[in-house]
Amino acid sequence: MRVDGDRFLADLHALRGFGASGVGRGVARPAYSEADLAARGWLAERMAGAGLEVQVDPMGSVFGLSEGRSLLLGSHSDSQPEGGWLDGALGVIAGLEVARAAREAGAPPVSVVSFQDEEGRFGVTTGSAVWGGNLRFDAALELTDRDGIALAEARVGAGESWVAPERFTGYLEMHIEQGPVLDQAQEAVGVVDAIVGIRDMTITFEGQQNHAGTTPMALRRDAFQALSAFNEALNDRLRNVVTPATVWTIGHVRLHPDAHSIVPGRAVFSMQWRDGDPERLRRMEGIIRETAHQVAEARGMSLSFGEMLGLEPVAMDPGLRAALEASAEEIAPGRWRRMPSGALHDATNVARLMPVGMLFVPSIGGISHDFAEHTEEADLVRGLEVLAGAVARLA
Ligand code: GLV
Ligand code: MN
Ligand code: MN
Repeated sequence: MRVDGDRFLADLHALRGFGASGVGRGVARPAYSEADLAARGWLAERMAGAGLEVQVDPMGSVFGLSEGRSLLLGSHSDSQPEGGWLDGALGVIAGLEVARAAREAGAPPVSVVSFQDEEGRFGVTTGSAVWGGNLRFDAALELTDRDGIALAEARVGAGESWVAPERFTGYLEMHIEQGPVLDQAQEAVGVVDAIVGIRDMTITFEGQQNHAGTTPMALRRDAFQALSAFNEALNDRLRNVVTPATVWTIGHVRLHPDAHSIVPGRAVFSMQWRDGDPERLRRMEGIIRETAHQVAEARGMSLSFGEMLGLEPVAMDPGLRAALEASAEEIAPGRWRRMPSGALHDATNVARLMPVGMLFVPSIGGISHDFAEHTEEADLVRGLEVLAGAVARLA
């Protein structure tokens, strides 16, 4: 099987045209947006053109199916609200190229998927979470985005029936690293050994909205001040529990009513934490909840927690990993490493259904979830070749 690097890069650039945004190579293609749906339509045409049968599942994940049992390759083609051109798109287009090359060579068939809402407009890797059984479909339909729109309403263009996982012998996902390790070490490829676990919820402090000129500081019940105190206390208390690899993020904050001259009465914010150890994730949850309670009590706030979403840490399949490693050693001898993934991927959910493996290529400067995300084209093509080599070994 011979993959065509130019054809692969041309498709990758064509996909970037949907939702192209910001400076450089940025994209804004959140799940079910006009740009996302147009990109999925284009992708379905490219899959059909490669001789694959297109099926869109009830979440809107797009499958390009080959006949009989096959490996499944892919990732996602939705993006963060401000995203790069490679996060997810790379794995989908690499899968498409390998499937096309396999057909041309008469090699064993390969199928492709672009999962929907990996970037979590509604949940956490929502499309593959439902397909993999980590989230019930009826529960997913009730999830809302940050503007209060329900997934049930946003889910245009979705299909009627689910794709049977029994069709597939395993799942391989190629992705950019989204961190600095390979770039700093000047290495070409990472073979993933495990993906970290995640917890994610919304927290609300509710105090008293009031006039910013007349309300004495001592009498305020300012929801932003509560959030600020919570953040500082939390950073301090987590120190005894975390490792250098543990991460936690308050990435979205909404103050009500969000005005210069009003003491904010309400702060709604996201609280997300990730680690490879489920026990540590649980201890962090305890500290987060307890700290929020203490701050609320000390500052006269009412406090509420939204539903906690999460995914467990997942190990990659040894057989698929061995095929990726052998291929990496052939194509990038001495320039690859085994490494964990701190980013989430659809592979976490697919692992409930079949063996999964993952492959990384370097991210320049370790930047991702930003318009500036980029990888040298030579590294993209080398990664494609490692993927194709692993598929050939598994055939
Ligand atoms: C997926 O993009 C993640 O947040 O790790
Ligand atoms: Mn991704
Ligand atoms: Mn992402």
